[in-house]
Amino acid sequence: MKKINTKLIKLIKYYTLINHNLIFDKNAINRYDKTLNETNSDKISNLDTLKKSILNLKNCNLKKKAKNLVFSDGNPSSKVMIVGEGPGANEDIEGLPFVGRAGQLLDKMLQAINLDRTKVYITNVVNYRPPENRKPSEEEILRYLPFLVKHIEIIKPKILVLLGSTALNSILGSEKVISKARGIWVTKQIGSWKTNVIASFHPAYLMRQPDQKKHSWVDLKMIKKKLEDLNIKIDN
Ligand code: URA
Repeated sequence: MKKINTKLIKLIKYYTLINHNLIFDKNAINRYDKTLNETNSDKISNLDTLKKSILNLKNCNLKKKAKNLVFSDGNPSSKVMIVGEGPGANEDIEGLPFVGRAGQLLDKMLQAINLDRTKVYITNVVNYRPPENRKPSEEEILRYLPFLVKHIEIIKPKILVLLGSTALNSILGSEKVISKARGIWVTKQIGSWKTNVIASFHPAYLMRQPDQKKHSWVDLKMIKKKLEDLNIKIDN
């Protein structure tokens, strides 16, 4: 019984965060698009507020053991947002995501479709390094999910790229398996923002399984095509 309750509570938390717009409301929908009036400096200030709220997080084991907050890198105006799993040792030292070996491979992957860090925005599911580079636990993922959702609401990407199973499961649901869910476009409501989501293999996995790079290349080409289809100019 206790197990079912815990599961149910987690599920409710998850849907509250991800799908709250599906809840019926007797009030009229406000169709006035607030984003039209939003300036880049609003975005920067919202990002700053978000960063401060993560820095103020209390009783977090990840935070206690980490050296630095790893918030984001790249261009906040970009229409492409990339979400990884969590910082590793190098990221923890530098306070920036994807600066180690996996990051170097990510740079090459981006380059293959004429993108780079100035043209995309990068963050992680958790913003502090899990000790010994372990995967973040379910509890840690749920704790950071509201921040990730808020991050997405602020950046408002037209394309959201989930790298690896942790990012996939945190946004699209825990039942998904990366080998099956990768390379498929999904339209997803995340908090107040609806966007096109695609999952792909994490660069660290590709370093261990280089024969899987062929699938990653298919996914990258899908992202390039989507940018063209949506008429997104990548020189922001
Ligand atoms: N792996 C990730 O998922 N994120 C990083 O920032 C670095 C490595």
